[in-house]
Amino acid sequence: MRRYTLTTFGCQMNVYDSGRLEGLLAERGWVKAQKADEADFIFFNACSIREKAAQRVISRLKEFKSLKKARPNLIVGVGGCLAEQEGANFLKKVPFLSLVAGPRRLTEIPALLDRLDPKGPAIILAGDGAEPRPPAAPASQAAPLSSFVTVMEGCDNFCAYCVVPYLRGREKSREPGEILAEVEGLLARGCREIVLLGQNVNSYAPKGSPAAGKASPFVDLLKRLAAYPELWRLRFTTSHPKDFPPELIELFGSLKTLAPSLHLPLQSGSDSVLKAMGRRYDRAQYLGLVKKLKKAAPLLALSTDVIVGFPGETEEDLADTLSALAEARFDSIYSFKYSDRPQTRALGLPNKIPEPEKARRLDLVQDLQRKITLEINQALVGQELEVLVTGPGRNLGQMSGRSGTNKIVNFIGPSSLYGQLARATIVEAYAASLLGRLATPAGELWAAAGDAAGARS
Ligand code: 5AD
Ligand code: SF4
Repeated sequence: MRRYTLTTFGCQMNVYDSGRLEGLLAERGWVKAQKADEADFIFFNACSIREKAAQRVISRLKEFKSLKKARPNLIVGVGGCLAEQEGANFLKKVPFLSLVAGPRRLTEIPALLDRLDPKGPAIILAGDGAEPRPPAAPASQAAPLSSFVTVMEGCDNFCAYCVVPYLRGREKSREPGEILAEVEGLLARGCREIVLLGQNVNSYAPKGSPAAGKASPFVDLLKRLAAYPELWRLRFTTSHPKDFPPELIELFGSLKTLAPSLHLPLQSGSDSVLKAMGRRYDRAQYLGLVKKLKKAAPLLALSTDVIVGFPGETEEDLADTLSALAEARFDSIYSFKYSDRPQTRALGLPNKIPEPEKARRLDLVQDLQRKITLEINQALVGQELEVLVTGPGRNLGQMSGRSGTNKIVNFIGPSSLYGQLARATIVEAYAASLLGRLATPAGELWAAAGDAAGARS
């Protein structure tokens, strides 16, 4: 039996790609190893979006040097955006690699492993490869309760700081029929929540879609997916604020299956920084969009990305970002220190901000946001939320799940609630999770759980 370990770094795209790779490996008889030293194939699906994360992957790969020396037949490989960026150059950093495969070439790996010589020269797969259809998982295999489905890949935006367009290529949308078939397969295997993925899902434009200005093909796709009764929750990520059509805003108010959560990267609250970043919206447009969204769906939970310390960012620019956070009141944010990336326009910009100063700015952003997140969560105490129960909670007897607004809710309840929609009244709120009490009378639930267990046995 051939065993592998696969470690995923970075964004949800990589998580999705890793899932596809695992499916293909399983088809060829590979099974997961518990530990690296039991594996015949060790693979890192790596990210390149920030320098530090890339360095970490490289040093972790280097740790396999002695293992490879002891077992020359071991195959160590690296994939994802970092592999695309480095290509054959990766071998200078980690000479014992057998395989370097960019994100658009991952599905070629399982077949390649059958003929790869672990003692021979490394195989480098980078650039545009034929992107085969995602494999249909066997009907017997349970799907995750919440699954990612890619609708488009790549990015045409070329924000000044971002390496993604160089590594994932230009935008390419999948055909709606293919997406619907994948979703149908997942729903038949027990999935109840779908998260549609793309670098910029609003630009979803399959072949033959209407010309710009006509109905948005992405809105159309959301409506078609929401029609499946087995689909309880639909989400999507990521949207670019510059092309958020009014029909999509309205959908948050009208389409029940569309969960009230949205990730909408702001990056900066300063007009001059936004301009230098090439984001193609200004602060007023962004905050106006937030206002419209909250009007259409008052319960909508917003999250965002913020970069501090972009080249030339002044104290005033930072104040603009802080005030934008205070105005938009995001439920949560991901915040980053600007990091120089190869090929990007920002790499050549003057007035780079020193590392300690970036760290200070990041602290200010995170301190403010921690306060806002806690305030928003504490306002939920006493409210009843619908929770999709995804597994056991942290403490004994607890189950855990996600609210429609994508917040973690822990509560005492029977494990038979797994995969169900439960209602919980929030009794305590923290920055990263909520504590709830089952709203359905506990006696009834325990009885129902007992009945279910009885019926099964
Ligand atoms: N430096 C810091 N943060 C970056 N991001 C993308 N590129 C960089 C960079 N060079 C952040 C952006 C993006 C998120 C996925 O990562 O905020 O939205
Ligand atoms: Fe990068 Fe900008 Fe494209 Fe997002 S929209 S992937 S930040 S270039």
